[in-house]
Amino acid sequence: MSASDQNGVEAIIWREDRLELLDQRILPEQENYLIYETAEDVAQAIRDMVVRGAPAIGITAAYGVVLAARHCFARDSFMWKESIGKYIKILADSRPTAVNLFWALEQMEKRIALQADDLNPEKKLLEEAVRIHESDIAANKTMGEFGADIIAASQDSGRSVMTHCNTGALATGGLGTALGVIRTAFDKGIIDHVFADETRPWFQGARLTAWELMRENIPVSLNVEGAAAHIMKTQDISWVIVGADRITANGDVANKIGTYNLAVLALHHGVRFMVVAPVSTIDMSLETGEDIPIEERGADEVVAVKGQQIAPDGVEVFNPVFDVTPADLIDVIVTEKGVVERPDRDKMELLMSNDHLH
Ligand code: MRU
Repeated sequence: MSASDQNGVEAIIWREDRLELLDQRILPEQENYLIYETAEDVAQAIRDMVVRGAPAIGITAAYGVVLAARHCFARDSFMWKESIGKYIKILADSRPTAVNLFWALEQMEKRIALQADDLNPEKKLLEEAVRIHESDIAANKTMGEFGADIIAASQDSGRSVMTHCNTGALATGGLGTALGVIRTAFDKGIIDHVFADETRPWFQGARLTAWELMRENIPVSLNVEGAAAHIMKTQDISWVIVGADRITANGDVANKIGTYNLAVLALHHGVRFMVVAPVSTIDMSLETGEDIPIEERGADEVVAVKGQQIAPDGVEVFNPVFDVTPADLIDVIVTEKGVVERPDRDKMELLMSNDHLH
């Protein structure tokens, strides 16, 4: 992996037999890596949002399985396969919505099944985790090209795009999903400005997306979410470009809360809507977005900002952190296997059954 794969930002590093995670809770003020040596601590890091973003969660969990295998084999070199399941479950229970987590754990389980019962599995499992990590980097690059080509082909209106949450190097192994398309389109001179939603309550847009774009001198305006309709009406926005945490068989998309709002607004304003995600985000086992488990997090995330209370004591809070955008509001889903315009079940099935559409 080279620094240019992530444009200098590396959220996840395997170094000296340990996992290092860039603590995203304290960005952009501090750039600090935390070190992990157990699967339980890795699961806690995912739960606590030290690392976040669907592909990044999957990659992190894969390295967590390597740490679990080391622990289980050291404890009992004949029974490690029996005991590792407990740690895979702990990792799986960390967050419910991003299917990349379960996909990565499944890849690791398949590799575990191939290992001898009494040989140290760490090296082989590490190879698998690195393969998952590197394939995400490659997928980001391919999606960046596909997405930029689509924007170029449709460039009849504005040269600005809007994005939501953080879908960049911090959320993936590489350049990012939606932010990878934005980076690529900017590098090719196809777009020249990005509007980034602040993304309450975790402020992934304000803290992370604005930080990533500014590091690369990509012009970005940060906006509160309530400004989205006004921006679409008054600025030269051609596309809303977002990532995904889970895409179902009919093309419905779960992503950060507020994404659905943007899709409705985009339709009203004649702005196109693009979802960018690797195929590891597609869950063909679920028929529609209604089947996706939507994570709800604590009231503390809404009633306080950086420890400062902003709401009355005891106020009731509802804090779903993802929503589902119906397929019929989506112009195109971009994956590394190909692009799906106006997604529906038949087109999603075709995408998943082919090795490559392009
Ligand atoms: O709660 P988060 O920060 O993990 O949510 C992240 C998102 O919703 C991203 O848009 C999604 O994971 C795609 S990231 C490539």
